[in-house]
Amino acid sequence: MNARKILVTSALPYANGSIHLGHLVEYIQTDIWVRFLKMQGHTVHYVCADDTHGTPVMLRAEKEGITPEALIARVQVEHLNDFTGFNIHFDNYYSTHSDETKHYSEAIYNRLKASGLIAARSIEQLYDPLKNMFLPDRFVKGECPKCGAKDQYGDSCEVCGAAYAPTDLKQPYSAVSGAVPIKKSSEHFFFSLSDTRCVDFLRRWTSEDDHLQAEAANKMKEWLGEADENKLSDWDISRDAPYFGFEIPDAPGKYFYVWLDAPIGYMGSFKNFCEKNSLDFDSYWNKDSTTELYHFIGKDILYFHALFWPAMLEHAGYRTPTKIFAHGFLTVNGEKMSKSRGTFITADSYLQQKLNPEWLRYYYAAKLNGSMEDIDLNLEDFVARVNSDLVGKYVNIASRCAGFISKRFAGKLVDGEDFVQLQQMIDDSFKSWRPEKIAAAYQQRDFAAAVRYVMKHADEANEMIHTKAPWQIAKDPSRDKELQLVCSLGIQLFYLLSSYLKPILPETVKQIESFLNCEPLKWPTLSAEQPVSSLLLPAGHTIKPYQHLMTRIDNKKIQALTAANKQTLTAKPQPSIKEPIADTISIDDFSKIDLRVAKIVNAEQVDGADKLLKLTLDIGSEQRTVFAGIKSAYDPEQLKGRMTIMVANLAPRKMKFGLSEGMVLAAGGGGGLYLFSPDDGAQAGMRVK
Ligand code: 2FM
Ligand code: ZN
Repeated sequence: MNARKILVTSALPYANGSIHLGHLVEYIQTDIWVRFLKMQGHTVHYVCADDTHGTPVMLRAEKEGITPEALIARVQVEHLNDFTGFNIHFDNYYSTHSDETKHYSEAIYNRLKASGLIAARSIEQLYDPLKNMFLPDRFVKGECPKCGAKDQYGDSCEVCGAAYAPTDLKQPYSAVSGAVPIKKSSEHFFFSLSDTRCVDFLRRWTSEDDHLQAEAANKMKEWLGEADENKLSDWDISRDAPYFGFEIPDAPGKYFYVWLDAPIGYMGSFKNFCEKNSLDFDSYWNKDSTTELYHFIGKDILYFHALFWPAMLEHAGYRTPTKIFAHGFLTVNGEKMSKSRGTFITADSYLQQKLNPEWLRYYYAAKLNGSMEDIDLNLEDFVARVNSDLVGKYVNIASRCAGFISKRFAGKLVDGEDFVQLQQMIDDSFKSWRPEKIAAAYQQRDFAAAVRYVMKHADEANEMIHTKAPWQIAKDPSRDKELQLVCSLGIQLFYLLSSYLKPILPETVKQIESFLNCEPLKWPTLSAEQPVSSLLLPAGHTIKPYQHLMTRIDNKKIQALTAANKQTLTAKPQPSIKEPIADTISIDDFSKIDLRVAKIVNAEQVDGADKLLKLTLDIGSEQRTVFAGIKSAYDPEQLKGRMTIMVANLAPRKMKFGLSEGMVLAAGGGGGLYLFSPDDGAQAGMRVK
């Protein structure tokens, strides 16, 4: 077999959340594939990293009162513990907040810019005037413009499913501070995906060399449109400060959008690995590289990996991915994972309950077929399947045969003539146990097929043991030879099955290697002429005493698991008021502000203004005109005649609609807007102190 040089990645998990069983579908799947390829003797590097940048990480760190760097360092340790707990082995696990990722982000950006594929344009976005930051869609909330449901995100409604722009929300508020967002323009940088060079390249890339699964290629064709169309939009790759990320070269205050540097994190992590292991990074990433590059991803991020990423790499002079493997989502008991049902299960909670990680690896493997279909973790089926397949069929083979070999034959398997007879039995009755079809299933990521073959073989082995009934033979001392033969056959079959299951059950098979007293199992290979019997443990091989290999799943543990993950959902929390208290001022500072009781003598709409009402305020000695940003909360008719409080000595401000001569006081920051009123009896013009 020619050894291939292969670089494999899984999507980088965000550094602001815990790993859950949904994530594990991908990491377990990638790990199985990588282990299989490594067992075959290929040079495979599996790298990953935490995806550390962006607004959510920045805000979460702020909420916890720590720096983003401290947050991402802590989460990285948690993530790696979870992965290690599930026997997921990365050759390098790194962070996108690294010099290497910064270097390649800048290099790619600069090369795209030099090729004329970066454009600057001013765009208008929602801005939080209290927090002084632009708001990503997910940080704007309000009423759905279609169905009126309250507290919906700025991109889509969870009640009616409508998709819209954050500026379409009614009664919008910032999920960060509660303030009513304003529209504000700013210059952004775009990767010109709509440029014919990108479009032509992507059309070619999608149709050539099976880079994508058929379903994914169809999606791409839909996104790309017909040959005479150009449906792609340019991609906004910059964000304004404050932002946790890499500042864009020669653009102070502008940062790379997290999704620009996230896939570059694959390169960053690999570069870090190459430095530590004296490997040639360029030979993997140069345009003419002969190595293979595979990305495992969820179907939700296909757009980023199949459009942006290859187009960026191509036009920055790097190689493009060999294949992108997209998978579906995880449902639990047939439904979306749910915190209230306790099916939003974290990796850590699974491990805390002392559930065996290899049970889940096996169950996922049994369901994964290399397609983009969703897979279901049915908890009842999980218990039944693991208990029946792994404990009842697979491990049972060893436990039924090993005791006799240890006790009656000092651990020695048959040799000499008996071994020849055993080989003959294998080649007569078990000739279908060849590794090729199982290897092909693994290679195609159809682990479900691999598991089906293996379990069919496990049934055949159990059938043989059942028929020969070594426990009967053992009763008659004159049949010792026969007993040793049957039990040696069982152990040899178990040995073969263990090689086939090793990518899925690495730790269990490690214990088995110790029990079988053999070298770490490699993938068995046979030339066309070689029979299955040439794959066996040697004649007269000695095994160690049988140690318990795997327990059955106790249903109670599964109940405890869902109970531990159950979160009681109380009434939807109001957006919390997070605006920090401003710097201390002196009484002298405060008394500079002349606050007066004012009577609203008139209130009217302002033509062309989204947020403003025009108020005429009587402050006893005079009348003032004030433009107040309270249109979202008040009907002008309700305001007429009402008393309020105004800042009377604020410098007049010239606005598009006229001069504003002061400001009325209103409370905000909690998802609404509330104008101040004095108690009954206060007169217009009274000073407020
Ligand atoms: O969707 C996600 O969870 C992203 N953090 C995946 C990034 S994958 C790669 F591009 F970094
Ligand atoms: Zn709706």
